[in-house]
Amino acid sequence: MTDRASHYLTLENLAAKSVGIAELFKAEPKRLDRFVMREGPLRADFSKQAISENALEALLSFAAKCDLEEWRAKLFAGEKVNTSEDRAVLHMALRGVGGSKENQKQVADMRETLANFANKVRSEGKFKNIVHIGIGGSDLGPRLVADAFEASAEQSLTLRFAENVDGASVNDAVKGLKPEETLAIVVSKSFGTQETKMNGDAVRAWLGTAASTNMIAVTANRDGAQEFGIAPDKIFDFWDWVGGRYSVWSAVGLSLQIAYGPKVFDAFLKGAARMDTHFRDQPLQENLPVMMALTGIWNRNVLGYSSQAVIPYARRIRKLAAFLQQLEMESNGKRITRGGKEAGLTCPIIWGDEGTNGQHAFFQWLHQGTSEGKYGGAPVDFVAVLKDHEARPDHHKALLANCFAQSEALMLGKPEHVVREEMEDRPDIDAIAPQKTFPGNRPSTTITLDELSPSAVGHLIALYEHKVFVQGVIWNVNSFDQWGVQLGKVLATTILDEMEKGEVGDHDPSTSALMGMV
Ligand code: F6P
Repeated sequence: MTDRASHYLTLENLAAKSVGIAELFKAEPKRLDRFVMREGPLRADFSKQAISENALEALLSFAAKCDLEEWRAKLFAGEKVNTSEDRAVLHMALRGVGGSKENQKQVADMRETLANFANKVRSEGKFKNIVHIGIGGSDLGPRLVADAFEASAEQSLTLRFAENVDGASVNDAVKGLKPEETLAIVVSKSFGTQETKMNGDAVRAWLGTAASTNMIAVTANRDGAQEFGIAPDKIFDFWDWVGGRYSVWSAVGLSLQIAYGPKVFDAFLKGAARMDTHFRDQPLQENLPVMMALTGIWNRNVLGYSSQAVIPYARRIRKLAAFLQQLEMESNGKRITRGGKEAGLTCPIIWGDEGTNGQHAFFQWLHQGTSEGKYGGAPVDFVAVLKDHEARPDHHKALLANCFAQSEALMLGKPEHVVREEMEDRPDIDAIAPQKTFPGNRPSTTITLDELSPSAVGHLIALYEHKVFVQGVIWNVNSFDQWGVQLGKVLATTILDEMEKGEVGDHDPSTSALMGMV
């Protein structure tokens, strides 16, 4: 344990002394060696962050003082690091890394069961469609990964998702499908989630007589699934030591296994396992997730950035920001430490969209908006894929050129004197030149994947998972509970109950007026 606030102050002094990012390249000839890291197909270039080599050393020693190595050992040993819920956190065990022999046996047995089931569905040919019903961690991972698999694998069954309680979600999911050809998979860790149960009920009604054979469940609450009406032999388990937002690797990914085949899914798991062993075994200074986490800590706690943009220049992982919003903000969007004290600044806002689309929307703000740290602004994670999977080499080169140009432009900017030279003696130069100036020195990381293979996607997601863990240790928050989602859920139940009875109970005037309109 350490006094974090005083460490942040020391780091701030280092930041104040630091020169701009572009100058750091001149001052530090080995900067690329120090700030670029690779694991398998994933290369991450942190050199365009506004961090000097000295500051990085200070960050690493700060991380060590926060007992990062001890926490990492506890995580992989299966200790109950989710203290408020008294649970171990072992999503890595789903990839074959960490946990007890018993955990590994449970995982191996379940992997076999899932692969057998997936192969059976694929070979029988009865089902042509899957409707995956779930929300949050029971939806975002499978949805992101399904798109990503499209780059290199073939979808054998149509895969649709129903997540929102908005009736449009379930209506769109079943539109045009035939019940007798459709397998519905209800995915809920708790089996207590309103949206999933309502959508499950709706799909069951839509399935009609086919419901008893065509609906299965994935859950860590077998009793709940049975109460919902799913037969015991149609329930696939996972365990309380798998957090919802870390669960795509478990039976939650069954729809992926059926749609793309168990081999593709295995490659995805293996890719993540490589990142797990990297994170577990590499010293802090050569550790990719640690480096990523520390650049985030620098941007958030030292420079005071309020958000973090994630821009995949790869359409097939365009849902990355949505996935990371849950992974990072539900994990570390917390204001109280493990010990019940004020935590100070923790998780920034995570947001983003695919490149190049974002360039025509919010990049103006990234380049010339007023916020540059100290509680505004956004460093960027650019994610690009080097291989062209679309047999469109010209498009691919243009896509990559745009990606690389954006990080260069953010860093270098365009000084006013250059703008003035270009404008020559235009009469309105004093008004216009400052508007055309780019301040530069805006930090970014560029992650490249050699190809968008299932293995590379596994590496990428596991990288972010471990980054979240490291930041949770440094902020001293429990990254594995989510009490902040409870209050709204409880109030929604009360309000729905009153709306169904045609009553308006004891609410504030604004809420009462809203309810009175329905
Ligand atoms: O949004 C809160 C949450 O509890 C998430 O943590 C979880 O991924 C999601 O709801 C869905 O929960 P379940 O899988 O239990 O239906």
